[in-house]
Amino acid sequence: MFRVSFLFIILGFACVSCKSEDKKYTDLSKLEIDALLNARYSQLLDYGVDSMAFARSYSTETKTINKRPSKDWTSGFFAGNFWQIYMLTGNKAFKERAKIWTAFVEKEKFNGGTHDMGFKIFCSFGNGLTVEDNQDYRDIIVKSARTLSTRYNPHIQSIRSWDFNKDKWQFPVIIDNMMNLELLFEAAKISGDSTFYSIAVNHANTTMKNHFRKDHSTWHVLDYDTISGQVRDRVTHQGINDDSAWARGQGWAINGYTTVYRYTKDKKYLDRAINTADFFINHKDLPEDGIPYWDFSHPDIPNIPRDVSAATVVASGLVELYQYTKNEAYLNYSKKVVNSLKSTNYILPKDLNIPFILNHSFGDWSKRHEMDEPIVYGDYYFLQTLLRLRDLEKL
Ligand code: GLY
Repeated sequence: MFRVSFLFIILGFACVSCKSEDKKYTDLSKLEIDALLNARYSQLLDYGVDSMAFARSYSTETKTINKRPSKDWTSGFFAGNFWQIYMLTGNKAFKERAKIWTAFVEKEKFNGGTHDMGFKIFCSFGNGLTVEDNQDYRDIIVKSARTLSTRYNPHIQSIRSWDFNKDKWQFPVIIDNMMNLELLFEAAKISGDSTFYSIAVNHANTTMKNHFRKDHSTWHVLDYDTISGQVRDRVTHQGINDDSAWARGQGWAINGYTTVYRYTKDKKYLDRAINTADFFINHKDLPEDGIPYWDFSHPDIPNIPRDVSAATVVASGLVELYQYTKNEAYLNYSKKVVNSLKSTNYILPKDLNIPFILNHSFGDWSKRHEMDEPIVYGDYYFLQTLLRLRDLEKL
């Protein structure tokens, strides 16, 4: 009897201490965030439904919304934002709208001309599956994975990223492609077809072998020789120069390898994510508020724009990496980013009626496009970070 009561006392203490542990995650001040974001959330519902007009970004110069059809690599983020806001708020209007925007993306399951299948299909249908049990969504994910697999080259052991610049590149693979592997892993689970799993793992291995520098930063584009299967060139497309550490690219690597670890539990992927995360969060040029300049190697730092999207891609990845490592530095970075972004420096003003939440993402230097604007994927990974932090409280 004494032993049993003693056990209850110990368990009671353990529970109290795990409750106070939980508090560590609630210093986000949920009410404050809700109050700030509600005004922005409702503007997403004001935006008209049109299958040809996924909102991608907003030009602060011309004051116009960049509207794109579903084939654009960013369409899934817009649909995904509605699912994520539904998950955060429970407001059914967002769920209804999420279903509509998601349905508009379906035809992309046949589009084999792009590697961006994961961004388009998983950010839309994948989030949809988190919300509801839906066999159609599962079928669409598997069909999309099959289409994406047509871009896999078994000799190079990678998925081809882009089809443009054929005069320059034989088989370009970009670090962003790591973000498409989640679709393949989930398709393997849904269908039982292990080919998807193997393609994802092979792609992750090839990228791990060739894409990273000694300082653990990543190149953007690797070009492979289709005959020898060897690397022909290591260059950039969106960074400031070929040897630069383009900020969002580091984010794709950190977030992507953390995801590969989730599905494989192979420590080498965890180490890859850790090393690049440490490069990022300990970088001497990372500003105090955690929002990086758009390229760590830019010679004009600090006189260049930040990239909110790079910060949110990393923040979301680091909430998950924290769960595997228990390294508080990762959680602290994610919380710092959320706290910085809810300030008026970054969150869009209430009276600006556009379907975005955050300002100051950096799109594409190569096209001199979307430089320092609200961009849909900055919002997507911000919402994902909020969800992941919230879910951490439930552990
Ligand atoms: N995947 C393209 C980009 O990150 O801009």
